[in-house]
Amino acid sequence: MSAIGVFDSGVGGLTVAREIIRQLPDENIVYFGDTARVPYGIKSPQTVIRFSIENILFLLKHDVKLICVACNTASSLALPVIRNNFRVPIIGVITPGAKEAVYASQNKRIGVIGTKGTIKSRTYEREIKQLDPKVKVTAAACPLFVPFVEEGWLSGEVVLSVARKYLKPLRQAGVDTVILGCTHYPLLKPVIQEVLGKGVILIDSAKQVAFEIKKILASEDLLNRGKGGRHKFYVSDNPEWFSSLAQRFMGKKLMNVRKVDNV
Ligand code: DGL
Repeated sequence: MSAIGVFDSGVGGLTVAREIIRQLPDENIVYFGDTARVPYGIKSPQTVIRFSIENILFLLKHDVKLICVACNTASSLALPVIRNNFRVPIIGVITPGAKEAVYASQNKRIGVIGTKGTIKSRTYEREIKQLDPKVKVTAAACPLFVPFVEEGWLSGEVVLSVARKYLKPLRQAGVDTVILGCTHYPLLKPVIQEVLGKGVILIDSAKQVAFEIKKILASEDLLNRGKGGRHKFYVSDNPEWFSSLAQRFMGKKLMNVRKVDNV
């Protein structure tokens, strides 16, 4: 079963997996959520690099032809360091999101929000500047957004007032485009849009990531021509918790989530 391997620190990467499944329905998918070690967003680069290498090695045992790092933190901290150490193509979520934002922005002021690790790494900023050095980037870490989403707090006064505080520098900078640089943030789109205003474009890189995967597989003649792909989900802890949150992130319940002991 030649498959697309996808990994994330936990359940958030299902927002990316969902889009891959939508655009590439005939592809097999092996998803790994590192639920034993989530969150990655507050860990050191060395730790995130180590976890990411282990996750890739796990996926490589499952006959994968391409690996998608669905986690923004792992894409920011680990991918630039480890990408060339593997023969299989590895695609992260940073470049596709940066490309889409540079394309969308009219006033060349782009905002980036993500975990502390993602923002501190400045990887998005570097990617954006490489595409267009004239763009001014304003970045903000929004660490409480991940637990809000996992607790199902997607609206209401508390979420709104936290969002107002986090997003203030972006509003002050007059950004016209904002990259939702974390797997969980697309679920808070309505709140973020309300705070930033209707005119601001919100970039959720999942669509672009799936599109890039399709392009790479097509160019290497690796597209699956079967009828309907098979999807397998593995986690390093708490499969029940993962399954129950899958409804929120994937739009459907996941059966048969398997726990693995040694990643
Ligand atoms: N998946 C992570 C990301 O996209 C968010 C959760 C975490 O901190 O591990 O950055």
